[in-house]
Amino acid sequence: MNSFQFHNPTRIVFGEGETRQVGELTATYGRNVLLVYGGGSIKATGLYDQTIQLLKEAGITVHELPGIEPNPRLATVQKGIDICRKEGVDFILAVGGGSVIDASKAIAAGVPHEGDVWDFFVGKARIEKALPLGTILTLAATGSEMNGGMVISHWEEKLKRGSGSPLLYPKFSILDPTVTYSVPRNHTVYGSVDIMSHVFEQYFSLTENTPLQERFCESILQTVIENVEPALVNPSDAAARANLMWCGTMALNGGQISLGMQNDWATHGIEHEVSAIYDIPHGAGLAVIFPNWMKYVYKERVDRFAQYAERVWGIVRDGRSDDELALAGIEATRAFFTRIGAESRLSEFGIGADQLDRMAEEAVRYHGLGAFKQLEKQDVRNILEMSL
Ligand code: NZQ
Ligand code: ZN
Repeated sequence: MNSFQFHNPTRIVFGEGETRQVGELTATYGRNVLLVYGGGSIKATGLYDQTIQLLKEAGITVHELPGIEPNPRLATVQKGIDICRKEGVDFILAVGGGSVIDASKAIAAGVPHEGDVWDFFVGKARIEKALPLGTILTLAATGSEMNGGMVISHWEEKLKRGSGSPLLYPKFSILDPTVTYSVPRNHTVYGSVDIMSHVFEQYFSLTENTPLQERFCESILQTVIENVEPALVNPSDAAARANLMWCGTMALNGGQISLGMQNDWATHGIEHEVSAIYDIPHGAGLAVIFPNWMKYVYKERVDRFAQYAERVWGIVRDGRSDDELALAGIEATRAFFTRIGAESRLSEFGIGADQLDRMAEEAVRYHGLGAFKQLEKQDVRNILEMSL
């Protein structure tokens, strides 16, 4: 286990109906608020009306930025920055999934920054100040509600890049599982794949002596596996929605489950290049690419993959070698993603071979990609080819 420090300042307010606290919580931090939301799901469910009413009752002035895209775009972030500057906004409230939260973080960092907010995503500037923000999470997936990361798309340049800062941890996040009852089937699947993928990025590690961290990871994976299908059968299954929501937050909240471990993140790097160009949902891309990454790298540490097969999927050794077990675990992963309805090939999204070189090149542009196995451009190309 490596040395580590851990500090996560986000207050989590979890439970059915806890949205009612949004006025009071927001008023602790600001009086002149930008409410950021997506393409309309919160209007359809009534969450918008409820939030506006609670904010008004708390004496808060509300400005609005609707229309955050899935794979949120820089141009929309810029609109939010302009509103905050013009109106003197002192707090941002994100009501939505990872895209809305990430856009809100970019706005929060962009407002006090004199240069272009994109500077933060291409290594030209560091985040030194940010407006405070809070969230009402509506989709179990990214963990953005309890971490300092954000991912933004520069649509015109077909780039999607991550950035982050401890200053961008939300002050509070309200996790009310009932607001996720309306999440459509496909996003329930993609969100669950994303949660599992966050765990994979941390679990497949070369760091030795991390038994507790491995068991944290395995327990999240098992809990997601047990709860996805109940949520698909009955979208209002209170227990399943609550469990998925808490898994999503725990899987990526500043690395709590993998402290002292080296993480990989290559598959995320590759997926971001795919959604940068083709605008596919992040979890959909991960469902295609992750099993192929696993096949490509498992020999780096076959014992961890064998452990994954046995502990997460309950595959019995029955005289099989580590190598055979590892492959059985990877097959079980692919089969599960397919069974819950995720795509298994990029061609299902109309993606062909024409942009493979560009995606591979961008994925390794800034530094070596991955730690479990460092990937070069040709490796990324090979994994993408396996995924077509
Ligand atoms: O826009 P609306 O109308 O709200 O609809 C959304 C959107 O169409 C809908 N939705 C969300 N909550 C709903 C709902 N529909 C009905 N009822 C609800 N309660 O779901 C669709 C997808 O939403 P989105 O926010 O895009 O999904 P997700 O949470 O998966 O976020 C994906 C984005 O997060 C980034 C991804 O790259 C992608 O851009 N990530 C952010 C990370 C982070 N900040 O830590 C880490 C992740 O690995 C990821 O890269
Ligand atoms: Zn992800």
